[in-house]
Amino acid sequence: MGLATLLAREQRAYLGRDRSLWGPHLERTRAFLGEGLASARDGLVILGAGSGLEVPWGLAPPGATGWDADPWSRVRTLVRHRVWAPWEFQDLTGGMAELAATAARAARQPWSGRTRATRTAARRLAGLIRSLDPAAAPLAAWLRRHRPGTVVVANVMGQFGVLAQRSVEKAFGPASPWVADPEDPGGDPLDEAVRGWTARAVEAFLAVLGASGADLWLVHDRGVLFGPAPVALGPLREPWTAQLQAAGELEADDPLCGVDVPRAFPGRELERHQRWLWPVATGQTHVMEALRVRRAMLGQ
Ligand SMILES: C[S@@+](CC[C@H](N)C(=O)[O-])C[C@H]1O[C@@H](n2cnc3c(N)ncnc32)[C@H](O)[C@@H]1O
Repeated sequence: MGLATLLAREQRAYLGRDRSLWGPHLERTRAFLGEGLASARDGLVILGAGSGLEVPWGLAPPGATGWDADPWSRVRTLVRHRVWAPWEFQDLTGGMAELAATAARAARQPWSGRTRATRTAARRLAGLIRSLDPAAAPLAAWLRRHRPGTVVVANVMGQFGVLAQRSVEKAFGPASPWVADPEDPGGDPLDEAVRGWTARAVEAFLAVLGASGADLWLVHDRGVLFGPAPVALGPLREPWTAQLQAAGELEADDPLCGVDVPRAFPGRELERHQRWLWPVATGQTHVMEALRVRRAMLGQ
């Protein structure tokens, strides 16, 4: 199963969720991204455009390009917004196919196609993944060719790690490649390797955006919280976990695997930085982050 199929499946699950608590999140995201769309000049590309649930396409200038590797995203955008936009379906990390191929090679014997012993294969794969270097090459090439003045990143970065995990799991079939016991003294080398890969993918993606010199409008999952305890966000503080005000125990996951997005654009003016909570489902709340990074001044 390739990235397109995995993404189509994820997107179906995403759109099929109970959205009754999503109103305030959708309003904030649409308002923020809408500002980016309405102020865009000299070309616009929307990365992670999806079906346009969060993207008010009506505010985009004519000719704006959508980018999403889900094969149904462009048609869904047409149905939702009556816009048939130019579209790119490539993998934004540029490294998912290599990751999936590496996982498949490690998990199965090439001569018989049979799965290897899971624990051994998972350890071997962890070693191989450490040497992979996702460089967002298709995005870099596209931005060099088209030189858009504005790039909108519509809630896609938090998916890189999820998709990387799914690709690895897929290679192992029904067996789980992860170490089940969190107390295992050896830790989980594969989990660490996939997190390392995700951090490199996010860093490379942000470096490519920074090098484009374009105006940037980014919305992404900064954190994911699990547990029933009510939670609120205090004033903006770093790291994001210092903002959490929870009335009980919560488990916090970092989908960006340690990458600090506001620090990824040295020398560029960070004009806006906001965070808010998105109750995605019972017991699952996302900490969202929105950033507006001013375009590079000439000579930078
Ligand atoms: C959480 S959804 C965002 C939804 C979208 N902003 C909307 O308004 O409908 C993330 C989107 O990113 C896309 N995506 C995830 N990983 C990707 C990748 N590596 N390359 C290209 N698109 C990707 C998914 O297909 C999905 O549509």
